[in-house]
Amino acid sequence: MTQVMQTARAATRPVPPTAAPKRRFEPVPVPDLTWTPAVEAETAHLYERVKTVIPPVEWPFFAPYVKAINDLKKVRNAVILAHNYQTPEIYNCVADIVGDSLQLAREATKVDADVIVQGGVHFMAETSKLLNPSKTVLIPDLKAGCSLAESITGADVRLLRQRYPGVPVVAYVNTSAEVKAEVDICCTSSNAVKVVESLGVPEVIFLPDQYLAKFVASQTKVKIIAWHGACEVHERFTGDELRAYRAADPSVQIIAHPECPPDVIAEADFTGSTAHMIDWVKTKRPRRVVMVTECSMADNVAAETPGVEFVRPCNLCPHMKRITLPKILDSLIHMREEVVIDPAIAERARLSVERMVNLRT
Ligand code: 13P
Ligand code: SF4
Repeated sequence: MTQVMQTARAATRPVPPTAAPKRRFEPVPVPDLTWTPAVEAETAHLYERVKTVIPPVEWPFFAPYVKAINDLKKVRNAVILAHNYQTPEIYNCVADIVGDSLQLAREATKVDADVIVQGGVHFMAETSKLLNPSKTVLIPDLKAGCSLAESITGADVRLLRQRYPGVPVVAYVNTSAEVKAEVDICCTSSNAVKVVESLGVPEVIFLPDQYLAKFVASQTKVKIIAWHGACEVHERFTGDELRAYRAADPSVQIIAHPECPPDVIAEADFTGSTAHMIDWVKTKRPRRVVMVTECSMADNVAAETPGVEFVRPCNLCPHMKRITLPKILDSLIHMREEVVIDPAIAERARLSVERMVNLRT
């Protein structure tokens, strides 16, 4: 695998130029957020789903927001798409669709509602908007970014193309719409190898995650030219940390996300996207498992797999954690922050995402 040098470094990039929002929504009054016996009764079935991970003393804070959000979704004809890293009260109690990046992109193409609220980070909301140009897509906090998406710009991709003429470019979906507009096809961690091989060429440029690139290179004969980006959550895990878990309990199972460094992947019994990790736990039902990824995921899977003990090397994604119940409610009340993408960028970026979604992987 070839590691390319840094070209035009993206520091803190402004959100790409946007077109004006089209639709006007009537404001709605702020709902009553008092914890009452009626709220308790109406949300009791939802508390059942999270009672192993949310203590009873905390539920009176969450429940009024859960009820208000679920009521307001009907008023707004809205759905909430939530990534597997969202906190349990979002994932289990207000989300309509949950999944990894590929599942969320695929489900986004089937949404009937007028409004999509993205429980996730900005690039995910952009992907939903690209696939639903006529719908209103909201992100409850515009600052919910991603270290991978911020590691590369459209100008960087153009320089890579000059340096490697004729070599196709595959972009992880963890990129801005501006970058997606410059590439040939997108991929996620669950279909990266298949996307790379689908191009039928001896080498590809793969960006921006250097570790996912290394993982893909280990699974294919296609030569991978990688960018140097990294996920600030997964790059912190170490092989030593995992060897210590195994030394303490040799029967422990270790499963890791491919955004982790190679010495971490080498220690893992299984490597896969967040959805593949969840499926693995549900199918194998290990006695004890170390989930080497963002920590909310262990909470979400734990709620669905009683009997499995989760060891949680807990690295939080600060961007995913910007999305909270109060911000989702605020988003639905005020219909903000609307994701709007420059139409010239959107048209080209959509093609890269659609090529991935249409690929049967
Ligand atoms: P997947 O859920 O697609 O595996 O991606 C992980 C991730 O880091 C999303 O930000
Ligand atoms: Fe980005 Fe990593 Fe957070 Fe995923 S976990 S959103 S890749 S910073």
